[in-house]
Amino acid sequence: MTDIPVVKTVEELKDQPEEYQNAVRKIVISHAVNELYGAQVFDEPAIALAPTPYAKWLTCRVAMEEYGHHVRFKELGEQIGVPAEQMTPSQKRPLSIFEFELKTWAEFCVIKLLADLAEILQVEDLAHCSFHPLRNLSRATMPEERFHAQFGKDFSTELCQTAEGRKAVQDAIDRYFPMLPAFFGRPKSKNNEMFRRWGIKQRTNEEMLDDYLVRARELVEGHLGLKLPAAGAPAA
Ligand SMILES: [Fe+2]
Ligand SMILES: [Fe+2]
Repeated sequence: MTDIPVVKTVEELKDQPEEYQNAVRKIVISHAVNELYGAQVFDEPAIALAPTPYAKWLTCRVAMEEYGHHVRFKELGEQIGVPAEQMTPSQKRPLSIFEFELKTWAEFCVIKLLADLAEILQVEDLAHCSFHPLRNLSRATMPEERFHAQFGKDFSTELCQTAEGRKAVQDAIDRYFPMLPAFFGRPKSKNNEMFRRWGIKQRTNEEMLDDYLVRARELVEGHLGLKLPAAGAPAA
């Protein structure tokens, strides 16, 4: 059992074992890539789909913040020695949840409702990370991720006021939700075990997914009064 280090600065990271440094880099790269890709394929295009000036205004804010997350994770990546080109979607394949083809406003509301909830769970976990610059960055992005999830909840709730809107939201949930479990990674993942051994992450992929399913069900069934479909296979 490795002693869990406390790494307060970027400089102190250089004194850590290679495995620790690589583990931190892996997570920072993943966040930098996925925040950018999500902003490109969902948030920015959603501005054109938003039905009112008010909705466009808030969607612009979401897009601005998601691009901002990429910028901040990329900055941290550069400080810890990751080449900039490794933090673009052309170098590293983004997560499968971004393969969904966004066509409607209802789909975007559901993506914010469900995918940003998944992101909140990740950020909550990293908020206790043993590498403090990453811990602090996660804590700083948390209020914005909460705003995105609330945005999804509010606009989904609004859409559900009409029969047609309810149908569109349920349809988007049916097609998008089965992609979400893969976001939490494979059960018994070796990477996750390494992250936990070093105190970089706190929970197993299985614990995260279970928690997510409870919270997603509460939103979709408890709050919206819709049906949560079967979860789909966890991680390819
Ligand atoms: Fe984000
Ligand atoms: Fe977000």
